[in-house]
Amino acid sequence: MSVDHTRAPVLEALVEYHRQGRPAFSPPGHKQARGADPDVRSVLGDAVFLGDVLASGGLDDRLTRGRVLERAEELMADAVHAEHTFFTTCGSSLSVKAAMLSVAGPHEKLLIGRDAHKSVVSGLILAGIEPVWVEPQWDAERHLAHPPSAARFEKAFEVHPDAKGALVTSPTPYGACADLRAIAEVCHRRGLPLIVDEAWGAHLPFHPELPSWAMDAGADICVTSVHKMGSGLEQGSVFHLQGGRVPAELLKTRADLLGTTSPSTLLYAGLDGWRRQMCLHGEELTGTALELAAEVRAAVEQIDGMHVDDRADYCGPDLADDFDPLPVVIDLEELGVSGFQAADWLHEHRSVDVHLSDHRRIGAQITHGDDRATTGELLSALKDLAHAAPDLRPAPRTEVPPRPNSVWHRHCCRGTRSSARPSTSPCRRRPAGSPRS
Ligand SMILES: Cc1ncc(COP(=O)(O)O)c(C=O)c1O
Repeated sequence: MSVDHTRAPVLEALVEYHRQGRPAFSPPGHKQARGADPDVRSVLGDAVFLGDVLASGGLDDRLTRGRVLERAEELMADAVHAEHTFFTTCGSSLSVKAAMLSVAGPHEKLLIGRDAHKSVVSGLILAGIEPVWVEPQWDAERHLAHPPSAARFEKAFEVHPDAKGALVTSPTPYGACADLRAIAEVCHRRGLPLIVDEAWGAHLPFHPELPSWAMDAGADICVTSVHKMGSGLEQGSVFHLQGGRVPAELLKTRADLLGTTSPSTLLYAGLDGWRRQMCLHGEELTGTALELAAEVRAAVEQIDGMHVDDRADYCGPDLADDFDPLPVVIDLEELGVSGFQAADWLHEHRSVDVHLSDHRRIGAQITHGDDRATTGELLSALKDLAHAAPDLRPAPRTEVPPRPNSVWHRHCCRGTRSSARPSTSPCRRRPAGSPRS
């Protein structure tokens, strides 16, 4: 089947809906903005209301015979080399839970990298799944957790052979990536599925210099927030599936258990449009973002007291396997202020918002939406922060305890450490949209 990535079924259906000018006696009650409060209209703009139509019985017919959503999902699946893709309008928080529920049930075990997002913990509580925590690679010098190694998953499966599969977060919000191929191999040798929480990896399939993404590395299910590193609207998330270890129908019904009956077509349109944008222009747009990130990294490194965490800091034996340079993570240890202080100061005094902050770092995320004007503002604000830092000191001291004696450690790994191994080079991939081998 030939796939045409210039098409965008959701956007095209919206255009057609407006062309027909059909009066709707159905939700949403604002009826194409007409009923919305004028102040709300002036703040949000009518485009928001015009794009907000009922998914079935509006965008598509009552029985969704136009397959608008399915066609958009098929295109997305092709773009990232998945067999099935599902859109959701409830964030990766829903996608992660749907993935977990399709792999393990009440009182069944799932191996989980301990640096998991809260939605994973919610999934455990809701489903009654028993976690087997797999300890991350702990960088004692930087006080930072990277995704667990394949050896740790191997060990955990040896101790818990009844586990139903594994879940790992990669990339982390800091840009550290797991050796997904090796972890998938550990799972597949036992006939078990690997779920990857790739919430921070929407951009990975679209540039050859970026780390491998979960579908190309052989994961069974992967979850991606298109609003985080991509151009989707907030809450726009996708989950992808491949291989026969998790039936597509099962995953779909688990998502249906958790999802809304009123999905936002705005969010669907954002997901659909992002896929088309990336398939047509992704390499160029992402390449520009990578160049900008490299410039920002070099410039921040010149600011007294600031150090940009780089590949050399994150990748290596017993650390991360690969590295995404778009989250520019800045270590403020020498500046003597905490990441929380720095983020608050930038917000209050320079109206600049950064992404993550912790006891010693801030992270400024660069995407294809940036240019030299935005990165210039960031750099000038960071220089001002460096000047203001003496007045903010001393940073409240945060005692970071040595590596915890975790559940996994107690049960799985007493006295052992994963063997030191050289950092493997990043998995290379076919260009996005190219045929599956
Ligand atoms: C690793 C990870 N997984 C899942 C999520 C949930 O994503 P969403 O905000 O799209 O619900 C987040 C959100 O920050 C995250 O960091």
